[in-house]
Amino acid sequence: MTTVNRQITLAARPVGFPKASDFALVETPMPTQEAGQFLVRVVYLSVDPYMRGRMSDAPSYAAPVAIGGVMGGGTVGRVVSSQHADFQPGDFVEGMFGWQEYALSDGKMVRKVDPLAAPLETNLSVLGLTGLTAYFGLLDICDPKPDETVVVSGAAGAVGSIVGQIAKIKGCRVVGIAGSDMKVDYLTNELNFDAAFNYKTVTQYEDELKKLCPKGIDVYFDNVGGAITDAVFRRINPMARVSICGQISQYNLAKPEAGPRLLSILLMRQAKAHGFLVFQFAARYDEARAQLAEWVRSGKIKHREEFINGLPNAPRAFLHMLAGGNLGKQLVKISEP
Ligand SMILES: NC(=O)c1ccc[n+]([C@@H]2O[C@H](COP(=O)([O-])OP(=O)(O)OC[C@H]3O[C@@H](n4cnc5c(N)ncnc54)[C@H](OP(=O)(O)O)[C@@H]3O)[C@@H](O)[C@H]2O)c1
Repeated sequence: MTTVNRQITLAARPVGFPKASDFALVETPMPTQEAGQFLVRVVYLSVDPYMRGRMSDAPSYAAPVAIGGVMGGGTVGRVVSSQHADFQPGDFVEGMFGWQEYALSDGKMVRKVDPLAAPLETNLSVLGLTGLTAYFGLLDICDPKPDETVVVSGAAGAVGSIVGQIAKIKGCRVVGIAGSDMKVDYLTNELNFDAAFNYKTVTQYEDELKKLCPKGIDVYFDNVGGAITDAVFRRINPMARVSICGQISQYNLAKPEAGPRLLSILLMRQAKAHGFLVFQFAARYDEARAQLAEWVRSGKIKHREEFINGLPNAPRAFLHMLAGGNLGKQLVKISEP
């Protein structure tokens, strides 16, 4: 076995959209395992929008990555050696092992996964935090009812594509907003969304929403914030529910945008907007994962993963995702399962 562990560290705090030079590929000695620990070889790494927040030292709900620190991230991997009673060599595990080829673990916050129950990579997509975010953010926060109109922004991405399909399962009219014609086509022709539009070519978002949501908007699942969300807010119905999942349009701004002040819309329409972090639902992950797995098995939810190969390409995969290059879930394949 190799004696070297390659890692991607944070080289510089980005200003605006991150660049490849904000990351460094480093080689460190393979970590030495002690009693109660096991060594994992990372197989798949998830690249996620929240990582942009960790690269910054602005106050947030989680500590930033230190300059020179290994980038954190969700992974699945395989145990290669173990001095831990509950984990054996050959076991597949999911955990936050970060942007590196090998990681030591004490087993805390690590979940064993069965590669025969579902493809390994789905533990980072529809059956991972992505699917759980869609499930709780839509069902718990918005409680969508049959025939209601649900709008999803970031609709062709990892979370958004699952949200829209769950809303279809609940009998809703579903309208997606995404950043290319190809994504719009995917949503309406492959995922059965009722309508979708490309926010990069449509200029009058509110007019488009009026056309595509003739009965107004009852539920909005917000992945992006910014001008798209401003337009959706103006079209919400009385008693609407808004799930604030992400604000990706704001993550790379060097200066905060001055937006319109829309809280009076919530007041007048007696609507609810509720921010959430998926971790608040941790006690119910098993329940949600079982339901998501059942919907996948029965063909009610389709999922898609895209792969970029090799740890050195993890920064490229991350930047590709931030720029909207992904359809479904963006992953990095670090090694063979
Ligand atoms: N609250 C939570 O616990 C939680 C958990 C997971 C994720 N999230 C949030 O959920 C959102 C989606 O995450 P994900 O993992 O599913 O990522 P994703 O949607 O697979 O990838 C990000 C997508 O964001 C879109 N995007 C980038 N810049 C944009 C902009 N300026 N305006 C509009 N869209 C833009 C791009 O698609 P287009 O081509 O459509 O632009 C890109 O594909 C993110 O905001 C993330 O922070 C929240």
